Order: sequence, then C-alpha cells, then structure tokens
Amino acid sequence: MAQSNFKSPARMGSLGDGASAASAGAVAGGAKGPGPKGADFERRNFLGMVVAGAGAAVAVSTLYPIVRYIVPPPSTVKEVSELVVGKAADIPPKGFKIFQFNKDKVLVVNDNGKLTACSAVCTHLGCLVRWESAQNLIFCPCHGAKYQQTGEIISGPQPKPLSPYKVRVEGEDIIVSKA
Ligand code: FES
Repeated sequence: MAQSNFKSPARMGSLGDGASAASAGAVAGGAKGPGPKGADFERRNFLGMVVAGAGAAVAVSTLYPIVRYIVPPPSTVKEVSELVVGKAADIPPKGFKIFQFNKDKVLVVNDNGKLTACSAVCTHLGCLVRWESAQNLIFCPCHGAKYQQTGEIISGPQPKPLSPYKVRVEGEDIIVSKA
C-alpha cells in the first residue's frame, strides 16, 4: 500500500528536531503581508472577474436573440391613404381578391363589373373572409359569419361589420383608399 505524504501534527512531533517547519510544508518565517497570500488573493480576484465577465457575455449573447425575437422591430411600412393594389384583370366577374393595404387586408369583390371593397379580416376572431358569389355574400369559414358585400352583418358571432374601403379603377389599375 502506498505511504501517504500527509504529515499529521502527531507525526510532525515524531520527526524530531532535524525536521524544520519548512520541510513540513509551512511557510517559513510566518511573516504576514503582501507575500504569497496577497498574490493568491489577487489571482483569485482576477479569476473571479474573468469568470463573471464570461458569464455576463454568455448571458447577453443568449438573451439578446430571444429579446429580439419577442420584441417586434419598429414598423418601417409607411401608412398611405390610397394604393394601387393590382390590375383590374386580376379579378374576374363574380370573383374576388384579397390585397394588402397598410396593416389591413382588403377584400375586393367584382360584382359583374361593380367593384366593392371592405376589410378581409373577420371581426369575430380574425380569420380571412371570402366572397361567395353563389350566395351573394361574404363568408367567414372559421365560425360561419356572414356579411353583405359591403361588410354589414347578416348573421353569425361577429360583433362588428367589416371596415369599409373605397375602390376604383383607373386605366387598368385597381386603387384602394381609406373610406
Ligand atoms: S373568425 Fe370569423 S366567424 Fe369566427
């Protein structure tokens, strides 16, 4: 069995006068002050700062993308009062199309050449509505809300009518504007 280098106080006593305190691992002289202990303290202090800095860097690099993901960037889309959304040929007679207009989506219906426009976002829970030409109404497929072509409520759970918009054709362009 390997012999231990540990020197117990009892064993220190048995070493006799020839065994100096230095040989037993003690610091010679017993002087206090900025000797090896001070250097050790500064090293520990420095290492503590390095570890704390590294921890802070890891925390920031981990949290930054999460915060960027959660907090939406400031909107750079400029609000306009009217917009060319497409070509008249895009919407066949009895057809419809949904266009982006500012932050809203607008449903443009071509009722045999007469265009109407209103918000395409159902006022119940926000599903997109569609034009049902066979029934001559706007329908929400989520919970069955029904609206007239100009957005007024026919039936369903929706609390409000669809917001109205103006629409006109200039040349070949469909132009949507705020009502
Ligand atoms: S979201 Fe349209 S009826 Fe519920």
